[in-house]
Amino acid sequence: MDVDISTKIANLKIRNPLILASGILGTTGAILKRIAMAGAGAVTTKSVSKNPRAGFPNPTVVKLEYGLINAIGLSNPGMHEFKNEIRVAKEGGVPVIVSVFGEEVKEFSEVAYQAEEAGADAIELNLSCPHGPNIQYGQDPKLTYEVVNAVKSTVKIPVFAKLTPEVTDIVKIGLSAEKAGADAITAINTLKAMIIDIKIAKPILSNIYGGLSGKAIKPVAIRCVYQLYEALSIPIIGVGGVTSYEDAIEFIMAGASAVQIGSAIAFKGIEIFKEIEQGIMNFMKNEGYKSVKDMIGLAHKR
Ligand SMILES: Cc1cc2nc3c(=O)[nH]c(=O)nc-3n(C[C@H](O)[C@H](O)[C@H](O)COP(=O)(O)O)c2cc1C
Repeated sequence: MDVDISTKIANLKIRNPLILASGILGTTGAILKRIAMAGAGAVTTKSVSKNPRAGFPNPTVVKLEYGLINAIGLSNPGMHEFKNEIRVAKEGGVPVIVSVFGEEVKEFSEVAYQAEEAGADAIELNLSCPHGPNIQYGQDPKLTYEVVNAVKSTVKIPVFAKLTPEVTDIVKIGLSAEKAGADAITAINTLKAMIIDIKIAKPILSNIYGGLSGKAIKPVAIRCVYQLYEALSIPIIGVGGVTSYEDAIEFIMAGASAVQIGSAIAFKGIEIFKEIEQGIMNFMKNEGYKSVKDMIGLAHKR
């Protein structure tokens, strides 16, 4: 039996549901192109702001057995410099999602406009970095509305709102993004965390606090996707701890139309895209699913 592993998010048809998450290797066009060639269905860039940002001094990433804690500090060369990387990334032949952030509403629109000009296929709004200047946007339904609305009235390409789980009610924020015209929701960003070196009795990260990602956060991410799927009509991109094909299918059954992969690349390398794609195809064949669409939200049927 042939299976259809393609999926759709807004008007983007992607060849498989596996997308590179923002911030992991997405710093240059050449690497993004390599990840597309390694089998990703789409790639997301590192978050880009209007002006260059240096980020935090090292150490910025700590590897744990169950994930990572990072406080990179949203370092990036600024959108003007980054435009060329977008052009190179496009040579990979898969949709390029440009992650955008700003310190004020206007900045989100300006950066998104430049990304569209450079050839971005979609914009992902980083409303939610736990150690950057912008988590407040994703924690307030009114600010979420304002950012999404401003960007939607500036660009023609699809706009995804990336949410944080660090809120009382993620559905409220999701509904606000949907009302403002978001074409999809990406859920979730990292959770604020920290780690202490007991030999020197000091926090390890230079910034003290960082964002927890990887296996440790998967159950939280699944819960968020499941809740959002119950309430929203727009597609959801699930992210948080996808390490195996079973994880990807769990997200899809919770309601995700696609999944992003981030931290697992630090543990398994970029071959993970092919490995998970093959795993999903075998699972579908064995279980009798003809298309990814048949599996989206299945866990909601009672
Ligand atoms: C080193 C690192 C850098 C990240 N940088 C960004 C970023 O620039 N923008 C963003 O929206 N998310 C960023 N994230 C969050 C990831 O995109 C993703 O939401 C999170 O890591 C959960 O997925 P994972 O468990 O597959 O890593 C970063 C994560 C890591 C580990």
